[in-house]
Amino acid sequence: MSGLLEGKIAIVTGGSKGIGYGIAERFTNEGAKVIICSRNESELSEAASKLSCESYQLDVSDSKGIKSMTEWFSKEHEKLDILVNNAGLIRPGSITDTTEEDWDLQINVNLKGPFLMSNNFLPLMNNGSSILNISSTVGLRSMRGAVAYCASKAGVVNLTKAMALDLAGKIRVNCICPAVVDTPMVAERVSKGNVSRKMLERVQPIGRMGRPEEIAAMALHLCGPEAEWTTGSIITVDGGQTAA
Ligand SMILES: NC(=O)c1ccc[n+]([C@@H]2O[C@H](COP(=O)([O-])OP(=O)(O)OC[C@H]3O[C@@H](n4cnc5c(N)ncnc54)[C@H](OP(=O)(O)O)[C@@H]3O)[C@@H](O)[C@H]2O)c1
Repeated sequence: MSGLLEGKIAIVTGGSKGIGYGIAERFTNEGAKVIICSRNESELSEAASKLSCESYQLDVSDSKGIKSMTEWFSKEHEKLDILVNNAGLIRPGSITDTTEEDWDLQINVNLKGPFLMSNNFLPLMNNGSSILNISSTVGLRSMRGAVAYCASKAGVVNLTKAMALDLAGKIRVNCICPAVVDTPMVAERVSKGNVSRKMLERVQPIGRMGRPEEIAAMALHLCGPEAEWTTGSIITVDGGQTAA
């Protein structure tokens, strides 16, 4: 590893597993001081001890919790260099069978979460810092049976662009849209019988799911020193899925 993030402080939401864990691991290996957040305390502290990083128990849809985290952060650290809004969840459901509760949950965590985190942490970020939002290829092209998830992820795409315009010249804001990545989220969908692994492999022309470290490699580029002219960019990392 090349120490590309030496001296930087990063927050990765949803860092206890999956893509967020992969990003936290890569950033740590590149010299950053990383703070991971998620809701489940035991999974969070286990991940933090494996990564030798800090952690903060947080629900990203809870504005009071986020405010307390900013107070904690400003006592412990000087400034924030990188915010990765990765935490997210999926509750499958079509337009006819999605409940209001499932709609609110996905919009609040997947879309309002990145808004609240950015809105509250921006005062602690200096010029030259960067924000990375994790959307999905279904934020660009949709899929059947997941209306609230698709709507939330499309919102993240345009939230990224709007933030990039507001903060241009000060803070860069970019977005990664992964296709199917092999994480606990996908394992849960398979175990519930929503979908088969074979089908999830086949939806990428490359013929396999992505790995968290493959998303982390793009995250490092977008948050690192080699992307200083990149902002408002929506990057697919998708095994060729959106080429079709
Ligand atoms: N895997 C894929 O195929 C795929 C594809 C495209 C986009 N994505 C997106 O990539 C991101 C990560 O997905 P993943 O597959 O790595 O999911 P995952 O394996 O289920 O991990 C999700 C992480 O987010 C945390 N989280 C969930 N709700 C939260 C909340 N309200 N507040 C704080 N943390 C929360 C989880 O911990 P707790 O549950 O303990 O809070 C966990 O750390 C998500 O935004 C997802 O939509 C995933």
